[in-house]
Amino acid sequence: MSDQTISLQQLGDETAKQFQLRYGRAPRWIAAAPGRVNIIGEHTDYNDGFVFPMAIERYTVIAADRPAGASQQITWHCARTNQSASFPLSKPVPKGEPKHWTNYIRGVFAGFQQRGVDTGPLDALMLSTVPLGGGLSSSAALEVATATLIETVTGHKLDPVEKALLCQKAEHDYAGMPCGIMDQFISALGRKDHLLLLDCRSRKTELVPMNDPAVEVLIVNTNVKHELTGGGYAQRRKQCEEAARILGVPSLRDADAAMLENARAKMDATVFRRARHVIGEIERTPAAARAIQTGDWPTAGRLMYASHAALRDDYEVSCAELDAAVEIAQEIGDAGGVIGSRMTGGGFGGCTVSLVKTASVADISRKIGEAYRKRTGIEATLFVSRPGAGATIL
Ligand code: GLA
Repeated sequence: MSDQTISLQQLGDETAKQFQLRYGRAPRWIAAAPGRVNIIGEHTDYNDGFVFPMAIERYTVIAADRPAGASQQITWHCARTNQSASFPLSKPVPKGEPKHWTNYIRGVFAGFQQRGVDTGPLDALMLSTVPLGGGLSSSAALEVATATLIETVTGHKLDPVEKALLCQKAEHDYAGMPCGIMDQFISALGRKDHLLLLDCRSRKTELVPMNDPAVEVLIVNTNVKHELTGGGYAQRRKQCEEAARILGVPSLRDADAAMLENARAKMDATVFRRARHVIGEIERTPAAARAIQTGDWPTAGRLMYASHAALRDDYEVSCAELDAAVEIAQEIGDAGGVIGSRMTGGGFGGCTVSLVKTASVADISRKIGEAYRKRTGIEATLFVSRPGAGATIL
């Protein structure tokens, strides 16, 4: 039911070992980047709003070396899925088949090429503990780990904000997913024991300490896979742009509830509800950050539940399994040690995030796992994570 978190050091050692087994020599470079969980601020990043994620203690680690022979390409082995692929270093790096996992990697190499940075050929092997398709940013972890590897191979270090933007562009251009900036940002800039309040308009960041030993972040993977390239995400983005256009503002960041209400008659009912979620969520996010900072747990919890309800009813990116996991947590409630709970990430499956009292975490995990199985017939995967560090060289 729950699964073990292995430390970054152990994962790095294992990656080096597997590299050695596969390529017959030790790797010369090892880089890592974490997945993330978003505490609150969902579908706000591409609306110039606020997000409040943390890096989790789950990483993608890549080990690499120059090829032994005369190879002029990038060769990549994914140890988790036991798949290998290679691509030439032609300019620009060619795109892979649609939805192929190497597209995230190719896009990052292309981003460095555009900056005049050439890596030369490489043999690489990656290992990851970030669940795939679970809404915990396995793709951003892969992109940011790749960028960090290229930085160390070439000695060309990017400013972390530029690095995040390069990775976001890789995802847009090579993976076809019009994501916002949150995932790459937190994977590049996460800090141990801190949450990151990011203003996606100004890109100003504020680290908020989250080191109260009495509170844990519990992640419940519904094990319903999410698929963000499926069109639902891009459609939401368009609806937000349409709402902003009708309201006559550059983005929904510039709107408020009263403005929206006044424009209700001018708007399609669905577009109205999409905007209502975003405007409310942009307001809730800094409020939740303050509540967590001051230890006002009841307020933090209330805002998380409100976020989930809006994502479910107005934004329609939840699903029955996410709703079940949140409802079960809410039923356990304050008396049982649950502070708040909501779906996290893009939605349509994936994970929920809950703030829970440390003293009750084992009990809560057991109860959620059992009740979820009973309601859905699915086995959830549960784990806790402290806020971890962002991308690093090992
Ligand atoms: C995905 C995207 C992010 C963000 C979230 C929703 O994770 O990659 O940019 O939009 O969905 O908050």
